[in-house]
Amino acid sequence: MAFTFFFRDAQPLELAIEDALPSLRGRAFIHVWDAGCAHGPEPYSLAILLRERMSDFIFRNVQIHATDLDAGFADQVTSGVFPEMELKRVPSGIVEKYFHPASQPACLQVVPELRAKVKFSQHDLLSLRPVREGLSLIVCKNVLLHFTELQRMEVLQMFHQALQPGGSLVTEHTQKLPEPLLPFFRQVAPHAQVYRKVDPAFVEHCAAEDVPHRHGDLCADLPESRLPSHSGRTHQRQSRVVAVRSQ
Ligand SMILES: C[S@@+](CC[C@H](N)C(=O)[O-])C[C@H]1O[C@@H](n2cnc3c(N)ncnc32)[C@H](O)[C@@H]1O
Repeated sequence: MAFTFFFRDAQPLELAIEDALPSLRGRAFIHVWDAGCAHGPEPYSLAILLRERMSDFIFRNVQIHATDLDAGFADQVTSGVFPEMELKRVPSGIVEKYFHPASQPACLQVVPELRAKVKFSQHDLLSLRPVREGLSLIVCKNVLLHFTELQRMEVLQMFHQALQPGGSLVTEHTQKLPEPLLPFFRQVAPHAQVYRKVDPAFVEHCAAEDVPHRHGDLCADLPESRLPSHSGRTHQRQSRVVAVRSQ
C-alpha cells in the first residue's frame, strides 16, 4: 500500500484551486490529472476541495483523471470505499457531507456525485505520454522524488505540454522545479510548489532575446552520460524539447 492520506498537503491544493478558479469559470470542460494517485485519498480530497469552492454549474464540468502505475488501485478508487480509520483526521462536517456508510463493515463510501468525477486508469509517468492534452490542473505529489533528475525533467516537460495555457501544476513541497524549466512556469506563491504554465509566446520572446536559461533547449545542460541508455527515449526527449520550442 502506497503511503498517502486524505487532505495530505491540502494547503498547496487549496492555493492552486483558489488561483485557478477565475480562469475555470467560463470553461465547458475542466480536466484535472492526479498523477500517482495511489488508492484514492488524494483524488477524492481534490474532488472535495473543488466541490467546496465551485458552484453546481462549474463543478459539473470537472473530470478528475486519477492515474497510478499500480493497476491494483483501480477497484478502490472506482468504488470510493475507505476504512473509517483512514478518515479519522478529516473534519466531521466533511465526512458527513461527502461520505455515507458502505456495505463493508467499518467502511465509508464517497457520495456518488464525487465518485462520478474520479476516473482511474493505470498509467506510467515514464511513458512520457499525458492522459490527455488541455488539462486545467495537474497534481503530482510524492512521486517525482523517486525519479532521476533526467526523468523528472522529462516528466515535467510532458506536464507543461499537457497543460492548457495558464494551467496549474502542483508538486510535492520537497521538489523545486529544475532551473531550466523555470521560464516555462510561474510560481504562484513563494514556498509553495504551485505553478502556472507560462504563455509560450513569452518563452519564445525570451529565446529571441537570448536570455540565459530561457531558451527552449531545456535539457542542453545535461551531459550525455545522463541520457537514457536506449535510443528511443533519447529521441523522444529531443522531440519534446523541439515541441516546447515551437508551441
Ligand atoms: C507515495 S505515493 C503518493 C500518493 C499521493 N500522490 C500523495 O501525495 O499522497 C506514490 C505513488 O506513485 C506511484 N508511482 C510510482 N512510480 C510511478 C510511475 N512511474 N508512474 C505513475 N505512478 C507512479 C506509486 O504507485 C504510488 O502510488
